[in-house]
Amino acid sequence: MFESLSLPRPDAILSRIASFEDDPRANKMNLGVGIYMDAQGKTIIPETVKLAEQRLLDLEDSKSYIGLAGNPAYNKAMREIVFGETVPEGRIHGMQAPGGSGSLSVLAKLMERACPNAKVWLSTPTWSNHAALLSTGGLEIGKYPYFDATTCAINFEAMTAKLRTLGPGDVVVLHGCCHNPTGANLTREQWDEVAGIAKATGFLPLFDIAYQGFGDGLEEDAYSVRKFAHTVDEMLVAVSSSKNFGIYRDRVGCAFAMGACAETTDVAYANMQSIARSMYSMPPDHGASVVSIIWQDDELRVQWLSELKVMSDHIASLRNQLATSFVKQSGDNKFDFIGMHRGMFSLLGLTIEQVEKLREDYGIYMTSDSRINVTGVQGENIDRLAGAVLAVSV
Ligand code: LMR
Repeated sequence: MFESLSLPRPDAILSRIASFEDDPRANKMNLGVGIYMDAQGKTIIPETVKLAEQRLLDLEDSKSYIGLAGNPAYNKAMREIVFGETVPEGRIHGMQAPGGSGSLSVLAKLMERACPNAKVWLSTPTWSNHAALLSTGGLEIGKYPYFDATTCAINFEAMTAKLRTLGPGDVVVLHGCCHNPTGANLTREQWDEVAGIAKATGFLPLFDIAYQGFGDGLEEDAYSVRKFAHTVDEMLVAVSSSKNFGIYRDRVGCAFAMGACAETTDVAYANMQSIARSMYSMPPDHGASVVSIIWQDDELRVQWLSELKVMSDHIASLRNQLATSFVKQSGDNKFDFIGMHRGMFSLLGLTIEQVEKLREDYGIYMTSDSRINVTGVQGENIDRLAGAVLAVSV
């Protein structure tokens, strides 16, 4: 049977890991995969996660199944973190799923059941795995304008002009904060406008929020989702706990359905659970338990918030240092957008050839669309990165 298979195209992001590992150069730089690295270049386990894991080890007395929706305390924590007080009880349900990707997959299947002819609209550009995760079952994929590579800013006019043409049966994927791959985010006023368009046209918003707390703060980064929750009748949200809790490999996320009333929301939720049953049955518990222990304990929660702040401060500082280094070395402000963007990513606007040259000549690895994870650069490498980018872009 396997003779009929051909090799799949290497993953745009993950394939970079292997080639980086094989590179013998001591000064190589990994700006590829979206994993937070500290000033020492390490992806450490947050102290609060370690403490909660110890507590879990001491207290857990069974490894029996929990259920299709996973850990209820985790789902409640995610609802509080992402939605705050915005949605009335009964109109929203969250189901723990294997990471943000697992959450998106469940929601894709839910859309397929609810509206098999739905068209899913992705920003141009978007995370390279969105189309693969969301086209499951044959949902059609469309693209709406978002980022203008010449100005390195959002083309809001083109974006909203497109969104105004959509309606029921269209699903618009929005990045809750820290847009991946561009780092360019809507202002609050712009979010208000897009929420108004969703309300007026009836398209279904599907939020992907994977980096909450890495931009302007945990509450601030939830502005978009909360605004929509206030404004529209129905929405879907995929949440990842990988980044802000630093538990990447534990695969923890949450899929939310918000409905117009309790009855339809309950039915959507029952469908999500039956979808989970047909895909992976039940989600892994460890990371979800860790998150719920942290969120429920006043001391651990405060400590986690300060660890999260250290991460977002580090990201903001690297962005500013890098933007400053570009100005210092080039004399112009073309790369100032790096300091203005939020989250771990920025798109440098380089060609594939320039990206390859950076890898070959300098040992600098980024995805082929020239997305960089700013936390992959530290200390003197900041100037080296800016210098190398300038050298290949002349
Ligand atoms: C990324 O964009 O690099 C991360 O979300 C990791 C991944 O799975 O692609």
